[in-house]
Amino acid sequence: MRGEGLIGMTMDDESTATSIPFDKPTSARAYGWMLGGKDNYAIDREFIRRTLVEFPECVDIARQNRLFLFRAVRYLVQEAGIRQFLDLGCGLPTDNNVHQVAQRFDPAASVVYVDVDPIVLAQGRALLADNEATTVITADMRDPEAILANPDAQQLIDFTEPVAVLFLSVGHHLKDSDDVGHGPRHALRHIIDTVAAPGSHLAVSQIVHDDPVKAARMSEQIDAAGIPWQTRTPAEVDALLDGLEPVEPGLVNLNDWRPDPNQPLLEPAPAVLQPYVGITETRTDVYEYGGVLRKS
Ligand SMILES: C[S@@+](CC[C@H](N)C(=O)[O-])C[C@H]1O[C@@H](n2cnc3c(N)ncnc32)[C@H](O)[C@@H]1O
Repeated sequence: MRGEGLIGMTMDDESTATSIPFDKPTSARAYGWMLGGKDNYAIDREFIRRTLVEFPECVDIARQNRLFLFRAVRYLVQEAGIRQFLDLGCGLPTDNNVHQVAQRFDPAASVVYVDVDPIVLAQGRALLADNEATTVITADMRDPEAILANPDAQQLIDFTEPVAVLFLSVGHHLKDSDDVGHGPRHALRHIIDTVAAPGSHLAVSQIVHDDPVKAARMSEQIDAAGIPWQTRTPAEVDALLDGLEPVEPGLVNLNDWRPDPNQPLLEPAPAVLQPYVGITETRTDVYEYGGVLRKS
């Protein structure tokens, strides 16, 4: 099931429409375009084209992340026995959204989707209208206390039972220098460390570069376009996750996280991005890094 596209968007409240930023790219729309989505503007597509000049891996790694999402959620339901999910920075609906993957393996699974971009709420509501175990809220993951206080989240998630907290392809939106909230560690760890029951899991991915100088250049470039961004090194990501127990194979390039050649495919990338598909077979400077960790 996919979103209808911006033109067909049902705006049941005008405030959602007016709060959608049109003067700068957004992560949800730009990432969605690389997955084959239609909910994007020229400014988002131009942003991706400019980023690809120096970082042509981005189309591949966005798509590799989305394939990891399927494998991670399947693992969480089938092997870790998780039945409730908090998906922070969930993005626009596409194929195999978290609730569709989770409910495929356990029809009773519940999902709270959270995103800061109001377009996600508008599109998510349409997708989830008839699914009582799922909701979408607009909130900032840098304020986990507000997410925990949200009545919809409280209704669907029972924190006395294990929960999976997902931060998929969002770690790079959490900047060390951010003056909102209490920093990336607080955003990533507050829920899992303070309220989640033992046996809960954290699934995380973020764009990394092994070379800190190039990581900084990428951050500068994307941040200047209006999307808060920090490319980290793998070691910097590891440092944010200490004390949790990574499940096999640990924190790795997502391609190496329980690869499954038989998993469902993604929508094709748009024709104009096709030349970039497969670039990471020969070039792996920038990649998406992460895994699944358990709270004991
Ligand atoms: C690259 S997309 C990832 C979507 C999805 N998690 C996935 O892995 O397919 C990043 C998403 O994070 C959202 N986001 C960025 N900063 C956020 C914040 N501070 N709070 C909540 N969501 C945020 C963006 O709006 C976007 O939808």
